[in-house]
Amino acid sequence: MSSTENYELFLTQRPRRLRRTDALRRMVQETTLSVNDLIYPMFVMEGENEKVEVESMPGCYRFSLDLLLAEIAEIYALGIPAIALFPVVPDAKKDEVGTESYNPDGLIPRTVAAIKAQTPDITVITDVALDPYTSHGHDGILDEAGYIVNDITVEVLAKMAIAQARAGCDMVAPSDMMDGRIGAIRDALDEEGFTNVCIMAYSAKYASAYYGPFRDALGSAPKSGDKKTYQMNPANSTEAILEVELDITEGADIVMVKPALPYLDIISKVREVSAVPVAAYNVSGEYAMIKAAGEKGWIDEKKVMMETLLSIKRAGADLILTYFAKEVALLLK
Ligand code: PBG
Repeated sequence: MSSTENYELFLTQRPRRLRRTDALRRMVQETTLSVNDLIYPMFVMEGENEKVEVESMPGCYRFSLDLLLAEIAEIYALGIPAIALFPVVPDAKKDEVGTESYNPDGLIPRTVAAIKAQTPDITVITDVALDPYTSHGHDGILDEAGYIVNDITVEVLAKMAIAQARAGCDMVAPSDMMDGRIGAIRDALDEEGFTNVCIMAYSAKYASAYYGPFRDALGSAPKSGDKKTYQMNPANSTEAILEVELDITEGADIVMVKPALPYLDIISKVREVSAVPVAAYNVSGEYAMIKAAGEKGWIDEKKVMMETLLSIKRAGADLILTYFAKEVALLLK
């Protein structure tokens, strides 16, 4: 008997029935990726009329404020609802304790005010962490032994959040992983009358090697040591639940898992226990890998991009921070 002739199984369930046509497939699709899910991380630097590509992140740029504003108008028109801002701070402005981080005339407050004047409706999310501002590149203040001191750092983070709120940001996003910073920042914001400024907590942020290209972009790599005394051990998952629960108790409006792709199990577990929206950060290294393989012609970059982001949503993320945001928005249009 030839392989296609007269041979039929009598099966009650044939899952392939619902895969036969495009229309059927669309009807039963469980997860969708929408432009509304996207948060676009962007890098701002001093200067004028400057746009410098990040070498390890093709298609991502450090913009001077004027060009950043033009880009923001464009991406808001594409439907992207939010940006996450990161500053490139000149070495001359860095010190041991990150003083520049709460300068009301610093790069981030100026940038936030300018964005809000131009495109008031876009959600502006500012990063709360000291690493772009410290001469040693750590997210906190060091003692003589080089240990990052928690509570003193939290005090500075609260000042930083206030400076950002005064400039008009909609949401602050502490990415530092100090204990108790969500509660301290919530209290500080409320005391200053910023009860409507949201907090997106980097709750389960791992000590990951996937942050390399981001540190290239900002020149923020730690000068010595690593971030393992504050960021989470990649081997742990129960601890992620503790971090999420603490942050929600302390007042987080959104919790985050970071990185995304190597931590889909964590996203899924966090989604089960979190009563607030869950964000996932598709970080710089995840972006760089897809771009590099795409450039070599080893993968279909656009398809891998969409499949990756869909997998992050399927795992349970409600929101995705991704450097692919603009490309995705263009593709979905
Ligand atoms: C630092 C910070 C990092 C990222 C966002 N905020 C790097 C780090 O913790 O060293 C990484 C983002 C990315 O890799 O895309 N507070």
